[in-house]
Amino acid sequence: MESTTTPQADALPRAILAKAGARAASAAGPRWLPWAKAAVFVAALYPLARIVLFGFTDRLGANPIEFITRSTGLWTLVFLCITLAVTPLRRLTGWNALIRFRRLLGLYAFFYAALHFTTYVWFDKWFDVAAMLKDVGKRPFITVGFAAFVLLIPLAATSTRAMARRLGRRWQTLHRLVYAIGVLAILHFWWMKAGKHDLVLPKLYGAIMLVLLGWRAGVWLLARWRSARSGAGVA
Ligand code: HEM
Repeated sequence: MESTTTPQADALPRAILAKAGARAASAAGPRWLPWAKAAVFVAALYPLARIVLFGFTDRLGANPIEFITRSTGLWTLVFLCITLAVTPLRRLTGWNALIRFRRLLGLYAFFYAALHFTTYVWFDKWFDVAAMLKDVGKRPFITVGFAAFVLLIPLAATSTRAMARRLGRRWQTLHRLVYAIGVLAILHFWWMKAGKHDLVLPKLYGAIMLVLLGWRAGVWLLARWRSARSGAGVA
């Protein structure tokens, strides 16, 4: 059948459709992305799988609760660092697809923090508030860990695209809380290990966090300096 539209009239919707298609394709990302995400999702379950495996094979040591608390605490910190490394790596390598993994990694940080917290409150203290308060009095680093965990909750709750869209600019402001969480996590770890005179790991993670947060501070200062300079140039 012959077309009833003129070539010009036909070209417009086609161009719009092509543009919309390109936008949809770029929003969906490269074709390998779902597989890479699935691989990261499975790999990130390793710390949990290790605990379960050790549990079944009687390898959690003399104090299994302590083992689980320490393991989940350390993995929370590892996922926090990896999540915070996404933006600098993306900027330095120009590999924009990295951003697609940030939410997943951040949610894993929250997941291990929730396991860490639950192990302490449930299996270590059996929901005994008096025992917890006594423990906090003796080991104040727990309060710092608790503050970090509380701050992670709104970030996890607003991590979806729909929430980001709904909150607009406020979403970015809210998600800057992750910097405070990073500092609190290091303080929690450092304080805990200082009591045991074993600061090797806290120093290592502290240095990593310093680089990750320092890089952001540097980018921010540079942007301010540039805008002040261009402002002065205009005036
Ligand atoms: C973002 C939140 C948190 C992070 C990143 C974190 C991280 C850590 C790390 C790295 C350790 C040391 C692990 C090791 O010895 O190798 C640790 C230990 C510990 N954390 Fe957390 N933590 C967090 C939240 C919490 C919360 C909410 C609680 C409890 C209310 C808590 C209670 C503890 C306790 C009791 C230990 C010491 C266990 C022991 O004495 O062996 N932490 N945490």
